[in-house]
Amino acid sequence: MSIAIVTGSGGLIGSEAVRFLTGRGLEVIGIDNDMRARFFGPEASTRLSWTGLQRNNKRYTHIETDIRDSRPIDELFARFSSEIALVVHAAAQPSHDWAAQDPPTDFMINAGGTLNMLQATRRHCPEAVFIFCSTNKVYGDTPNRLPLIEQETRWDLPSSHRFGMHGIDESMTIDNSMHSLFGVSKCAADLMVQEYGRYFGMRTACFRCGCVTGPTHAGAFLHGFLSYLVKCAVSDQQYTIIGYKGKQVRDNIHAFDLANAFWHFFENPQIGAVYNIGGGRYASCSVIEAIRCTEDLTGHPMKFSYSAQSRAGDHVWWISDNRRFARDYPNWRLTRNISDMILEIHDEFLEKVRLSRSPAPRRRRVGVSA
Ligand SMILES: NC(=O)c1ccc[n+]([C@@H]2O[C@H](COP(=O)([O-])OP(=O)(O)OC[C@H]3O[C@@H](n4cnc5c(N)ncnc54)[C@H](O)[C@@H]3O)[C@@H](O)[C@H]2O)c1
Repeated sequence: MSIAIVTGSGGLIGSEAVRFLTGRGLEVIGIDNDMRARFFGPEASTRLSWTGLQRNNKRYTHIETDIRDSRPIDELFARFSSEIALVVHAAAQPSHDWAAQDPPTDFMINAGGTLNMLQATRRHCPEAVFIFCSTNKVYGDTPNRLPLIEQETRWDLPSSHRFGMHGIDESMTIDNSMHSLFGVSKCAADLMVQEYGRYFGMRTACFRCGCVTGPTHAGAFLHGFLSYLVKCAVSDQQYTIIGYKGKQVRDNIHAFDLANAFWHFFENPQIGAVYNIGGGRYASCSVIEAIRCTEDLTGHPMKFSYSAQSRAGDHVWWISDNRRFARDYPNWRLTRNISDMILEIHDEFLEKVRLSRSPAPRRRRVGVSA
């Protein structure tokens, strides 16, 4: 039996990885304790996501525990030891802004929790492939020093620049910049994952993601850009654009495409790999462009306001250069562009709204005599 351990299995990336891996025949043990509801409030809870997986997926087992707590993690790995073929580590405090509210909690989850996962893997299943969901925030605000040019709806790099055509590659320094507290805790974890690869010879990979999204994203004000924007459009709430005239550019990758990338790495792993991964130029947009695309879809204008103060360390322009990964795994492809993703998120929200409004099905009264 081959087992995959997926942390953060109720979250966007974790739950997609669970569906993908069980679909490929692996047994998956998911770890999640719904910290997301503690970070961002009950509307961002991921509990329903993993309870749904438990109910509908026979290959899925859930463990509600905290990755900061090394003892239950170690016991779990000791129990399944060499049966564990893959670890996808996606549990995290994922927000730039939230981290500043409570740096110790952010660091203990993102850096300390990652160390616990690496240690348990090394002790009990050192042959397993270890995939870490890292982030482009490890580069801090260095991308903001690029010679960006203001265009009508976005900031952009001239195509003559070395990152202009294909986006930013892994050669960008991670040093000497402002990272945000979140960027630092993820950077510490990223370096540790690389080191368990290079120093201990483990098959580890850091996937430094741009924005990841999809219809299962529990978008919240502090995290989940496209998902939250579309949610505001569907529910007629006001969206706040934060800084850079709304022309800041993000690339967006569908969680399915990311899970598929994990699978390619799992099938042909390497030691201490590092990849930038995202939607690339193919699936990039500015906030203004995302608003326009959403308005085209819904057919009515979105309510939005503008706050000129940008977030500390926030990127003005990020497009991932996927070519290192594509060179190592030439059969991997991006399958969704921005409008495909907005449409999927939109339809999922509408469905949720429809279900919440439809009357509960009438129960037949049983065993009551007239
Ligand atoms: N979504 C993105 O745009 C994006 C972009 C770049 C990097 N990433 C990285 O990918 C990873 C996953 O992102 P996501 O969008 O799926 O996040 P998410 O918030 O949707 O999922 C994370 C899950 O981890 C769980 N969790 C948090 N702390 C935990 C703890 N201490 N113990 C157990 N479970 C815990 C949460 O409850 C949540 O369900 C994160 O490491 C994030 O930094 C995400």
